[in-house]
Amino acid sequence: MEKTALITGSAKRIGRAIAEHLASEGWNLALHYHSSEKAAKNLQDELQEQYPEQVFVLFQSNLQNPFAVECLVSEVIEEFGSLGMLINNASAFEQAPITETAFDLLDRQMMVNYRAPFLLMRDFARHSGSGLIINMVDTRITSNKSDFAAYSLSKKALWELTKMAAIEFAPSIRVNAIAPGITLPPEDKPEHYLWKLAEKIPMKKPGGLEPIIKSLDYILNNEHLTGQLLFCDGGENLGTNP
Ligand SMILES: NC(=O)c1ccc[n+]([C@@H]2O[C@H](COP(=O)([O-])OP(=O)(O)OC[C@H]3O[C@@H](n4cnc5c(N)ncnc54)[C@H](OP(=O)(O)O)[C@@H]3O)[C@@H](O)[C@H]2O)c1
Repeated sequence: MEKTALITGSAKRIGRAIAEHLASEGWNLALHYHSSEKAAKNLQDELQEQYPEQVFVLFQSNLQNPFAVECLVSEVIEEFGSLGMLINNASAFEQAPITETAFDLLDRQMMVNYRAPFLLMRDFARHSGSGLIINMVDTRITSNKSDFAAYSLSKKALWELTKMAAIEFAPSIRVNAIAPGITLPPEDKPEHYLWKLAEKIPMKKPGGLEPIIKSLDYILNNEHLTGQLLFCDGGENLGTNP
């Protein structure tokens, strides 16, 4: 497989961990970010220093902007010559039950978490022709809890799209998803917030980044795997303790 990957929302947190891992495995990276310019630049510099033979290029865009989304894959291919993997990691995460969901919030969640991945997958299939797509969903897709209604529904739609695309794009492109559970706290919340939440899940602790990286490797190394979802959620999808 061509070892160039596009990771959306790669400047921080899970996206950054994925970028660091793939770089250590010899991948050239198209590092997409939106507002975290400084963090993205730091990541690019850090990776370039550690892996001088590889190529790391930043791509800034707002995934709510349809024009920017429709240009991204072709811009990456123009820069690198080819693209072997797309990781749809960028995400908007806003809390509101259905009755409190404003038009703009619904729009943002669907544009960033569903429409952009849809169009990027379409363009990857059109222009790359072979390779691997990984969509970051969420263990919340197994529940009908409505505290993050628009977010959860956008991720449910992304998982359905994963399966549909796995059939349409096979056998040249594999399409899989990873569903993290309690992994990292939101940027405005402390670590102990996560440990409190984790008391209710079967494994009773937050997962952190390692299970996600291991799942990424499992998908990468299993060439017969397509249309599958790997839960990295400490069993949360099975149900929580009262
Ligand atoms: N963290 C968890 O515990 C957890 C749990 C379940 C599922 N997940 C899923 O795992 C993935 C990574 O999680 P995370 O917590 O690391 O994500 P995150 O920090 O919430 O978001 C990742 C990146 O998405 C980008 N983004 C947001 N709005 C955007 C927009 N309009 N246009 C372009 N980019 C935009 C941001 O880029 P900039 O910073 O550059 O603006 C942000 O850094 C997400 O898909 C998330 O849904 C995470």
